[in-house]
Amino acid sequence: MPYPLVFSGGFGQSARHPFTPLAIRCLITAGPTREFFDPVRFVSNPSTGKMGFAIAAAARAAGWTVDLVAGPVALPEPAGVMLYPVVTAEEMLRQTDALFGPCDVLIMTAAVSDWRPKVVHPQKLKKDGAGLTVEFEPVPDILATLAQRRRPDQLLVGFAAETENVEANALAKLDRKGIDLVAANSVAGPDGAFGNEMNRLILLGRDGFRQPLGPATKAAVAAQLIAALAARLAAPTR
Ligand code: CTP
Repeated sequence: MPYPLVFSGGFGQSARHPFTPLAIRCLITAGPTREFFDPVRFVSNPSTGKMGFAIAAAARAAGWTVDLVAGPVALPEPAGVMLYPVVTAEEMLRQTDALFGPCDVLIMTAAVSDWRPKVVHPQKLKKDGAGLTVEFEPVPDILATLAQRRRPDQLLVGFAAETENVEANALAKLDRKGIDLVAANSVAGPDGAFGNEMNRLILLGRDGFRQPLGPATKAAVAAQLIAALAARLAAPTR
């Protein structure tokens, strides 16, 4: 395991009055995960973590306490944020699970690898001129797993990475995962979200809530998202 897992301890539940959202504790995931099939080869995706890190910085700027669980990325640690590096989906699940209890808001921007190799070879596989067949199994759905043990006062936000029917596919994930809000995000083509400096989201709620964010820099979209969530937390009912 390349990185140690770090567990938070003893924060307890944050005291948040529903009408005065002070001392908001936010848990954010970012970046890709890597699923190895031998010590030097893995399956992953092109996520760079920029959107999640921008959201972490915006949440911190809003005065929130931020835990950031990140897969392998090449980004500087945002100031004032607790960073928990992970590599695999299994590690991300264990780390977010450890931090979930005291959080008020969970924002899952991570592009979790949906499958992992069934067999992880302990030594580097040698080429013998033949092809290679790797059998995959699904990884746990982190968001859906955490949603099963959520408190009603926690706000759960997913990010839907879509290449087609962006809004409809994102809406379907609200119920499937048991979350409150989903940010529909196009990852198709050269203008897609992966790696770009700019982004455009549509924030969708189970209750029919719909708010476009951007197009703008990821930092600006992140600030708009945190403002939208803050307004939502301040609402008497949600
Ligand atoms: N997610 C998760 N655990 C997974 C896969 C996804 O927690 N194993 C989270 C992502 O972080 C994101 C949301 O679920 O917040 C939607 O992820 P996305 O990749 O868009 O959808 P999937 O659930 O993977 O479904 P599909 O690949 O069929 O679109």
